[in-house]
Amino acid sequence: MFILGIETSCDECSAAVVEDGKQILSNIIASQVKDHLPFNGVVPEIASRLHTEWIYSVVDEAVKSAGLVKTDIHGIAVTNRPGLVGSLLVGLSFAKGLAFSLKIPFVGVDHMKAHLYAAHLEQEIEYPYLGVLVSGGHTLIGSVHSFDDIMILGTTIDDAVGEAFDKVARHYELGYPGGVVIDKLSRDGDPDFFDFPDPSLHKGDHDFDVSYSGLKTAVINQLEMFRVIKEREYTKADIAASFQRAAVDILVSRVKRALEKTRYKRIVTGGGVAANSLFRKELNRLDGIETIFPSIKLCTDNGAMVAGIGYHLMKTGGSDSFGVTASPRVYGLEKKYKKHADRYDQPPISDSESLSTHDE
Ligand code: KG4
Ligand code: ZN
Repeated sequence: MFILGIETSCDECSAAVVEDGKQILSNIIASQVKDHLPFNGVVPEIASRLHTEWIYSVVDEAVKSAGLVKTDIHGIAVTNRPGLVGSLLVGLSFAKGLAFSLKIPFVGVDHMKAHLYAAHLEQEIEYPYLGVLVSGGHTLIGSVHSFDDIMILGTTIDDAVGEAFDKVARHYELGYPGGVVIDKLSRDGDPDFFDFPDPSLHKGDHDFDVSYSGLKTAVINQLEMFRVIKEREYTKADIAASFQRAAVDILVSRVKRALEKTRYKRIVTGGGVAANSLFRKELNRLDGIETIFPSIKLCTDNGAMVAGIGYHLMKTGGSDSFGVTASPRVYGLEKKYKKHADRYDQPPISDSESLSTHDE
């Protein structure tokens, strides 16, 4: 079954053809990075206009480079939530039009679930596992039982982790996308130059939650307060490296808590921030835990992950009516840990037992 996946939720205009939810036949990603670069961030109006200009040729190229013609396509999957609504509507409307003309089904896909599916395109992964979804708009830690069944344990109470990277980069004029430039610049900086604070969230309800607004404020407005090394002037690379260290530490500490609680031995990551080199290194250091990352190309927004999950949605009877619309929000991914704690496969272990890293 050939599924065409369309992704226009933010600044990548992408289309892909995936066979049977597994085999990527094509994955065309037209990035708008250089168009948003002068503004140091995504300008929604520019994003949706460019999607309108590009969508036809991106889809056309995806079908052609898969070695197919449009009438070979069995169904269309399209991201319709969450994201920039103007941009989502371009992909969604195009998908509807194409599905209508080809008389094939189409299905709206949740972008975050698609991010989690990305790793499944590259290897067989057994459920359940701990899903860690880190992007520009979301930070989700969840217990994953199937491609469509994610029980959220923790999320951000303010900014998403990628958003924090983007805001810090923007403030210090490091470039865009913030995560990519901070990751690169950090290689030349000292991660211990500044000792930024860990957010103090109330334990219990917020055990697995993260917060990034405090870190962002510390890095942007209170830099000197957290300075540890005094002998030399700091560089932008020191700011980047110290920020990245703190941002990753926050995330990894919550992931460790979630692993202790759920006893899962496997983590699957997804989203743009899953490309971060320090994040990958730290999760790979977790003792006795298998961590699966999508390849860098599949971490960022792409049509293949949409086509992949779309296949499973259609196979289990999912298809949408032409009335379906776009939404900036994530549905069905709200925190349900308290209500569904019984769904763990093994009993939670006590708080005193803890997870160690290789060199601890
Ligand atoms: O998944 P994605 O492409 O789009 C959204 O769904 O938001 O993620 C984009 C986010 C941006 O915030 C970007 O700065 C961040 O992912 N990002 C990174 C890296 N590459 C992209 N953050 C940290 N390190 C990276 N290497
Ligand atoms: Zn994304």
